[in-house]
Amino acid sequence: MSAFFAKDLRTDFLKNPIGIDEPKPHFSYRCEGILHQSARQITVTDEASRLVWDSGMVPDDKTIDIAYEGTPLSSKTRYSWQVRIWDENHQAGGFSDSAFFETAFLDPRLWKAKWINPEEKIHPNDNQPASYLRKTFFLDRIGNGRLYITCHGLYVARINGNRVGDFVLAPGTSQYDRHLPYQTYDVTPCLHVGDNVMEVVLGDGWYRGGFGNNNLRNVYGSDLALLCQLEINKKTVIVSDESWEATQNGPIRFNDLAQGEHYDALRETLDGWHPVSAADFGVDILVCANSVPIVENESFTAKLLITPNGERVLDFGQNMAGYVEFSLSAKQGQTLTLVHGETLDQSGNFTIQNFQNARKPGLSKQQRVDYRCKDGLNRYKPLFAIFGFQYVLVTFEGEIRPEDFTAHAVYSQMEQTGFFECSDARVNQLVHNTLWSQKSNFVDIPTDCPTRERQGWTGDAQAFASTGMFLLDCYPVFKKWLGDVEACQKKDGKITSYAPTIPDSHFMFDGSAGWGDAAVIVPFLMGERYADTAILQRNYRMAKRWVDFSAARAKKSRPGRWFVRRPYQKFLVDTGMHWGEWLEPNQDAVATLTNMAMKGVPDVATAYFAYSARLLSKMGEKLGKTDDVKKYAELSDNAKTAFRLFTTDQGRIVSERQCQYVRPIAFDLLSEEEKKRAADDLDALVLRNHTHLNTGFLSTPDLCRVLAETGHLDTAYRLLLQDTKPSWLYSVTKKANTIWENWNGIDKEGIPRDSLNHYAYGAVVGWLFDGICGIRLTAGKIVIRPFPNPLLHYAKARFDSVFGRIESGWEYVGNRLRFDITVPPNATADILLPDGTSFRQDAGRKSYDIDR
Ligand code: BGC
Repeated sequence: MSAFFAKDLRTDFLKNPIGIDEPKPHFSYRCEGILHQSARQITVTDEASRLVWDSGMVPDDKTIDIAYEGTPLSSKTRYSWQVRIWDENHQAGGFSDSAFFETAFLDPRLWKAKWINPEEKIHPNDNQPASYLRKTFFLDRIGNGRLYITCHGLYVARINGNRVGDFVLAPGTSQYDRHLPYQTYDVTPCLHVGDNVMEVVLGDGWYRGGFGNNNLRNVYGSDLALLCQLEINKKTVIVSDESWEATQNGPIRFNDLAQGEHYDALRETLDGWHPVSAADFGVDILVCANSVPIVENESFTAKLLITPNGERVLDFGQNMAGYVEFSLSAKQGQTLTLVHGETLDQSGNFTIQNFQNARKPGLSKQQRVDYRCKDGLNRYKPLFAIFGFQYVLVTFEGEIRPEDFTAHAVYSQMEQTGFFECSDARVNQLVHNTLWSQKSNFVDIPTDCPTRERQGWTGDAQAFASTGMFLLDCYPVFKKWLGDVEACQKKDGKITSYAPTIPDSHFMFDGSAGWGDAAVIVPFLMGERYADTAILQRNYRMAKRWVDFSAARAKKSRPGRWFVRRPYQKFLVDTGMHWGEWLEPNQDAVATLTNMAMKGVPDVATAYFAYSARLLSKMGEKLGKTDDVKKYAELSDNAKTAFRLFTTDQGRIVSERQCQYVRPIAFDLLSEEEKKRAADDLDALVLRNHTHLNTGFLSTPDLCRVLAETGHLDTAYRLLLQDTKPSWLYSVTKKANTIWENWNGIDKEGIPRDSLNHYAYGAVVGWLFDGICGIRLTAGKIVIRPFPNPLLHYAKARFDSVFGRIESGWEYVGNRLRFDITVPPNATADILLPDGTSFRQDAGRKSYDIDR
């Protein structure tokens, strides 16, 4: 290989994916060993080494967002691809190592399998045992084996006793009535000549198990069903059909994602087999998720605590989403129960009160495993449940040995791409906590929390998106989830509060400002961070329909309730139900919501309308949609004027709430003069509040950024480093290792409330990357503009971006301030230092000193 080459080849930002159905995948790679790529070439070959695409030598520096343009892809085919790059001197390098992607069924008619139903009776309101299905088959030869599989519910498949793949909770969640994902597994090593047996266990999962806050069951259907097709060398060997048999007489007596599992080890020998029935669910909605699987990640060992009330509690040292595996000796008939909780209460005892649904006690989340032992060794981990927990209350008649228990963190397979360290250990802990709240909540889709609702709340995701895209490589998770958001979009363009949602449901808060805007903000941010237009293309229609929905809503505004001068009244969004700023400290959530229901929240809703219309216009620009660019820019300008007329009094915002200043500054809704004044007033407000924040979900992410960029850097740092309530570091002083839903998650008395694992407030970590260390990526442009302050002695961040590693750090050394900056190959960065100097840096690592 030459001294410079392409590496980290990705297809749709996935590493060698098996089972995709994108007709035109997008390629990306990173360069190694060059300053600038002057040209590139991609070649793609099929399994017979036939060339299906040769891009030829393309003279540009593009390494991302390169669409496949070859002959149409075939189903069930593995394609290999390589890249050659030319350096800044127009010298050609050798071809890179090859990467591959493999298609699944690009035509639904390739499904030969039948849907089969394993249950003899469906009891919609009962909690059913898991279903076990099996099929034996004979092979006289083996070869390249593929299993294509999905279900209604969750599945675990085994061939000859070997678990197929490592996907936990397959087929993942989705808006099942619109898109049902299936997986493709390479099962070659599981097969042998002679008799083979395939077994599948089906559980309830998102499909018919408890859903959301109210634990509704059977949201997508009341059946369980399996669809699978095993192929060898592309020939169908077995399919799901009436020749399978099933039983419900297995060890899993009950299963629910959040309630847990009941497992009877005395029933591990299955009996009561009966025929299955075929069902006609069709294959039209089957899709490949084109994402990463949910897998077991870190493992944790336990410490055994005897709590003051004499209970035995395992402490795994980290709040997470996942489950506990155990392997212990027991006597037949002994029972073991595990209850999973996030914290200990004020007396040091185990509790799950904080995430129980107080309003509907009968429906509260249990997070519990009930296990009946067999004689000898008992090994177990749940198949169809995951929990949000650090602590596990164990009830067992025998001795509890902590070494018999291991916790597995379960979340989508994502590499860590963002690393931050500074001289204040508390801030480093805050980063750790944010990372873990992201891990605990990026389980196929971004959710609010792993305990209570476990839903893809749109507002939380948009508030956290920028930060999340620094910390973990989560493009596939967001991309998949945006597909769900679109699938939930109503005919009039309204975006639901969370996605996936209950089919055909109408929730009065659907269409809430700041939540629905995820449809624009998330794809926009992804386009910026990943220099990717494919994501804009995919989501443009949804984004536009949402902005049009807001525009239609604004048109309904009449001077009766709120008044702004003509012609701007019709750009004021003063109808609809909104969550508003949400969870500001010291505000009673119920009273705030009632007030909002009566009066609307034109300030929040109009600000988001103006902001989203602006982002949409920018998206249109990248996609060459000239008419839209102008139309939505104008719409945004008008909404901006309506906003200013509504919120300012002679150019001044008058409010005691910090969010009222942060939002318009962050969204650029004010004139320069108004902005300056608003920023000064915000600063004064924070200081009057004894340097405490009082923002909620929506503007917390921007608070420090807004202060820092308007000349109030000291206040921004003091807010970050504040450790009395409400503040980010208060939770750190309370030994939190994840981010709390509330600023007051555990109060002075030690009483825990609400979820202790909600990433939303962790969004400030984005500012550590793009503010304190100043790493900004906007559609392929890198800008490094650090904001150092002597309240920290040093800070350094590393971001493994799609272009390669970017690093930016600074340190006070004597009376000098030193910056260390690394720019990846084939990139230049615009550097702006606090002394006002600005210059360009090419690939490589450089240091700069300025006076402090
Ligand atoms: C969830 C959220 C969500 C909110 C809507 C809560 O119950 O946990 O994080 O955004 O409802 O306001």
